[in-house]
Amino acid sequence: MVTGGAGFIGSHLVDTLISRGYCVHVIDNLSSGKKEYLNPSAIFHNMDITSSEAYDVLLSESPEYVFHLAAQADVSRSTKWPFEDMQTNIAGTLNLLEACRHFPVKSFVFSSTSAVYGNAPTDFIDETCPPSPISFYGLSKFTSESYIKLYGDTFGIPFSILRYGNVYGPRQTSKGEGGVIAVFLETLMKNESLKINGDGLQTRDYVYVQDVVEANILAAAKGNQHIMQIGTGKKTSVLQLINLLQNVHSKKITSFHAQDRQGDIKHSCLDNRFAKRILTWEPQFPIKDGLRKTYWSYTS
Ligand SMILES: NC(=O)c1ccc[n+]([C@@H]2O[C@H](COP(=O)([O-])OP(=O)(O)OC[C@H]3O[C@@H](n4cnc5c(N)ncnc54)[C@H](O)[C@@H]3O)[C@@H](O)[C@H]2O)c1
Repeated sequence: MVTGGAGFIGSHLVDTLISRGYCVHVIDNLSSGKKEYLNPSAIFHNMDITSSEAYDVLLSESPEYVFHLAAQADVSRSTKWPFEDMQTNIAGTLNLLEACRHFPVKSFVFSSTSAVYGNAPTDFIDETCPPSPISFYGLSKFTSESYIKLYGDTFGIPFSILRYGNVYGPRQTSKGEGGVIAVFLETLMKNESLKINGDGLQTRDYVYVQDVVEANILAAAKGNQHIMQIGTGKKTSVLQLINLLQNVHSKKITSFHAQDRQGDIKHSCLDNRFAKRILTWEPQFPIKDGLRKTYWSYTS
């Protein structure tokens, strides 16, 4: 079962699972996901993860593995509508966990985020860094993590919690956790100038979507009540991204600087050594390769 299987990351996960011979069910309400991203071989349940229908589908299908990606994943939306964010991200997770109490799920793999850390005291974060969210989105994800851990302890539900860096790749849109790569590519496709917030020296850990998919699948098999960071362990600045894009874009890229976004942290990079060790996982796509693949997906 993949919740959010019509979304950016979820649809890639569904494609890979199906290509490996799994029978895949998807729960998605298409609030940000798209029907055309949904693999036609997946069994689709168009419903909300907070609903009794979703609870019933989980019970009747009793999937061996639950990959929980469905979420309200837009930080600014969470600030405007914290209650809605809480309902989808916390109550939705709880609804799924409640169902999972009643059948022998082999693994519940949760998509979390480095947003749980807020303004971390270091720019190279590892899993021992205490979460301190500064957005309602980060808070709802962290709260969901806590529920998952407690359900694991109390009812023996096996789980893995994956905290992603900045995921990018084909099918991403500039909404949600979207981020700068999707924004830049959409802007380039309109032949417009790229807006750089601040000096462009701010760095993030950009991880390619297929690497995140592989981490999910490995976590289902090998994760054992762990919280793991899924990133590359490498930082890339906004200016470096533009240089890399210039290598693949045929026209001269123009850009301009705007004010720093309020509340944005300057640098963030995830130590991925724990995930590498537990999952025997290794990111396969350096930023220049992933960016090229993403660029071509926008132009083809
Ligand atoms: N994209 C990133 O960089 C990133 C980083 C960290 C964590 N994450 C997490 O990874 C997961 C997937 O993110 P994404 O970027 O693919 O986002 P996305 O918005 O593309 O996918 C989310 C999917 O969930 C579905 N959905 C939302 N609310 C729902 C509900 N109430 N009931 C049923 N379906 C619902 C949407 O329709 C969509 O298909 C999310 O949990 C997100 O928080 C993403």
